[in-house]
Amino acid sequence: MDLNLDAFWMPFTANRDFKQAPRLLSKAKDMHYWTPEGRQILDGTAGLWCVNAGHSRPRIVEAIARQAVEMDFAPPFQMGHPLAFELADRLTRYTPAGLNRVFFTNSGSESVESALKIALAYHRLRGESHRTRLIGRERGYHGVNFAGTALGGMGPNRKMFGSSLSGVDHMRHTHDLARNAFTKGQPEHGAELADDLERLVALHDASTIAAVIVEPMAGSTGVLLPPKGYLQRLRDICDKHGILLIFDEVITGFGRLGSPFAAQHYGVTPDMITAAKGITNGTIPMGAVFVKQSIHDTFMQAPAGIELPHGYTYSGHPMACAAALATLDTYDEEGLLTRGQQMHAKMEAAVHSLKGLPNVADIRNTGLVGAIEFAPRAGAAPGRRAFEVFLGCWEEGVLLRAAGDNIAISPPLIISDSQIDQIISTLEKVIKRVA
Ligand SMILES: Cc1ncc(COP(=O)(O)O)c(C=O)c1O
Repeated sequence: MDLNLDAFWMPFTANRDFKQAPRLLSKAKDMHYWTPEGRQILDGTAGLWCVNAGHSRPRIVEAIARQAVEMDFAPPFQMGHPLAFELADRLTRYTPAGLNRVFFTNSGSESVESALKIALAYHRLRGESHRTRLIGRERGYHGVNFAGTALGGMGPNRKMFGSSLSGVDHMRHTHDLARNAFTKGQPEHGAELADDLERLVALHDASTIAAVIVEPMAGSTGVLLPPKGYLQRLRDICDKHGILLIFDEVITGFGRLGSPFAAQHYGVTPDMITAAKGITNGTIPMGAVFVKQSIHDTFMQAPAGIELPHGYTYSGHPMACAAALATLDTYDEEGLLTRGQQMHAKMEAAVHSLKGLPNVADIRNTGLVGAIEFAPRAGAAPGRRAFEVFLGCWEEGVLLRAAGDNIAISPPLIISDSQIDQIISTLEKVIKRVA
């Protein structure tokens, strides 16, 4: 293929390495990608945690095509179009009770920024404008805009960008290999780590804290499940101090764990949920913030006029709305948002069968997601061993994701038993070879 690779500055990619040995995808259907040379690749990552119903599903493709012909764009400020209202209403059938107001964005990063701004504005409207501090957690990922970067807890993503946002602090992460290695499902130990929020309350005073944002299950730092009881304890501490709790469900939303949202899966309801990715099955960029009605009502009691001076040109884009509605139809028809529950046992047995292979330090799983953590390679860059496993699997026809020292498995929710077996046997072969 005669392609000049120079101009495109690729995101989150080692550009120089990639351009020496490009990994290109040019076609996709259901569980598979194909390279330009026609090599078939099993998708073990749902694209990038987003293609939950599998690739190029006809119903979604047709809805997008129809909408492109019908109406390409409508301005979202002081104007509306029916699909955005229809979609918002429909989405509230999937969200936890009470989170029934929907603000549209175009990505996970924008959902995070929007939720945080809503939190700040909400406190201000209630006469608590002193609540400006935002709390994240180590090893969290909340996208790449300024607040998300500041609140995220991944060192390499933060250090290039100065102080990015002031008034931010972090709780300790919950990953505890010493106590929880090779746990199946939720770790037993670590609920008390939620008390780290009390440490920050003591340090800063609750009256300065607007919101806490956490991924209920941290995805990008390697599938870190919440210890049993942890999320409820966090909820209780937030309630005690009048702090809003935001779940960043950009990865966990839309069925990854076996429930529509992790909030339902773990039985803990936050004040806001940020979502994106699976909302349109990855087809058209879209995100959303699901907001508790009581928070929204506070804005609606403000003096007449624009209640929230925030939004994007493409908020609720007609093609994204059409894609999302068709995506929800597909999820419903095929029971995909709860399929992770049926597949949990299969996935669990499959990933944990890799225990004992060289340098495998931990294995984690829930629903249709799993992770294998490797011991770092002595003297090599962090994550090198996992990246070599990722490369080996790619050569063997399976796409997985390297996240630090971890390989994450998060296939489309339509995966079959035999395709799970293919992922695991490929991993076994590659780990034995390179790890
Ligand atoms: C939890 C979480 N929040 C936010 C984001 C950012 O989403 P986007 O890349 O769509 O901006 C991601 C992306 O992976 C994510 O996993």
